[in-house]
Amino acid sequence: MEKRNLTLKSPSSGARNFRLGGKTAIVTGGGSGIGQAIALCFAANDAAVRIVDINLQQAETTAKQIADAGGQATAHACDVTNQRQVREVFGRLFAKERVQILVNNAGISHIGTVESTTEEDFDRLFRVNVKGVYNGMLACIGHMKANGGGVILNMASIAGSAALADRFAYSMTKGAVIAMTYSVAKDYVQHNIRCNCISPARVHTPFVDDYLRKNYPGREQEIYEELAKSQPIGNWRGDCEGLLRGRRDSSDRGPR
Ligand SMILES: NC(=O)c1ccc[n+]([C@@H]2O[C@H](COP(=O)([O-])OP(=O)(O)OC[C@H]3O[C@@H](n4cnc5c(N)ncnc54)[C@H](O)[C@@H]3O)[C@@H](O)[C@H]2O)c1
Repeated sequence: MEKRNLTLKSPSSGARNFRLGGKTAIVTGGGSGIGQAIALCFAANDAAVRIVDINLQQAETTAKQIADAGGQATAHACDVTNQRQVREVFGRLFAKERVQILVNNAGISHIGTVESTTEEDFDRLFRVNVKGVYNGMLACIGHMKANGGGVILNMASIAGSAALADRFAYSMTKGAVIAMTYSVAKDYVQHNIRCNCISPARVHTPFVDDYLRKNYPGREQEIYEELAKSQPIGNWRGDCEGLLRGRRDSSDRGPR
């Protein structure tokens, strides 16, 4: 079995021991928000990062930020809903290098109850948040199996396991991400592939600003504050890099 060096040695010194030297990671949706923060964090810990995003310009901006800071990154245009495209883009990467880490992070949001969710919305959410994760895992698993293993991290959400009001289709997709993660974790553990998901609560990213703009025009600030108060800590956690590193920033005065 490959020696794994991603394991955090102790909860207190975990962040310091997080080193990814010699590893290559694909991060889908790495052009913005949480995916961008993951890409920056991985690169700062010596991983080579392949940023895969439907928005090439945003992916390139993240890659440039990493390169400017002395890290290694490349940007790749890809729509995760398109299985052929995902296989092609990932296949080109695998032809050049071994990829040890896949972060299936690309996702979209939607507001609505079962009654106010159209079939079109339901299918769109399913295509990106569920099929996109399936496409990423499918494209990667053969490569990981053939190369002694790897790590898959899927981006779920608390919406997948706790009731969030007005998030019918979104919750459906994140529940599916959790179920797919368990399934793949079980089926591939003997291939030295570790599959996990994380379920963030609300994180202030462009994803949040977008749905406030689309769904609450003119009331963005009011709803933003309402959402902040509904967080267990009573406010937004701050920037996503801080969230990943467990850092408390100056605006974050609530209990952890
Ligand atoms: N922000 C939150 O509060 C929150 C909470 C829990 C979970 N999440 C999850 O975290 C993930 C990232 O969210 P975020 O807030 O950083 O969002 P974001 O909108 O800031 O970033 C999403 C990225 O995914 C890309 N993307 C969208 N559709 C794509 C597609 N078809 N193919 C390839 N790339 C695509 C976008 O271009 C963008 O760069 C999502 O899966 C989201 O569901 C977010």
